Amino acid sequence: MKVDVYERAWMWIAAVLIVAFLGAIIVAAGASAIHPPSHVEVINPEEVYDHEEFGSPGVETLDDGTIQVTMVGEMFFFDPYEIVVPVDTPVTFRITSTDVIHGILVAGTNTNAMVIPGYVTEFTITFPKPGEYLMMCHEYCGTLHHEMVGALIVEEEGA
Ligand code: CUA
Repeated sequence: MKVDVYERAWMWIAAVLIVAFLGAIIVAAGASAIHPPSHVEVINPEEVYDHEEFGSPGVETLDDGTIQVTMVGEMFFFDPYEIVVPVDTPVTFRITSTDVIHGILVAGTNTNAMVIPGYVTEFTITFPKPGEYLMMCHEYCGTLHHEMVGALIVEEEGA
């Protein structure tokens, strides 16, 4: 089979580019330990409110001083819908859903994650600026998706 010289050249260029891009992804994933934000912790979505931790969601300070926010997403609210955390302090969020896929996004911060029934989404984040931030669901979850909002209040030290 006769392949034109330019055709052949472009085939090789395309092949080299594909290998280079795949290589870049694999190297970056290995070197920077890139992985999805949720670790694979499972929970029965039908028993969330009987769960030891998620049965009473809210903000608590653990024995080692870390601030933990336990949250439940449900059509069409967050429980709790108002969260108060201190400024410049690492806050670990642990969130799950009782029904469908929701999301959590806090406008003006780096908080942005999926909330998936059956799994616990966990991430740690520090808020450098005090203020009141709009918290919302960013995955379409039903007719009242737009009403699934709340507030994150970042308080000044000692407030
Ligand atoms: Cu929950 Cu959209």
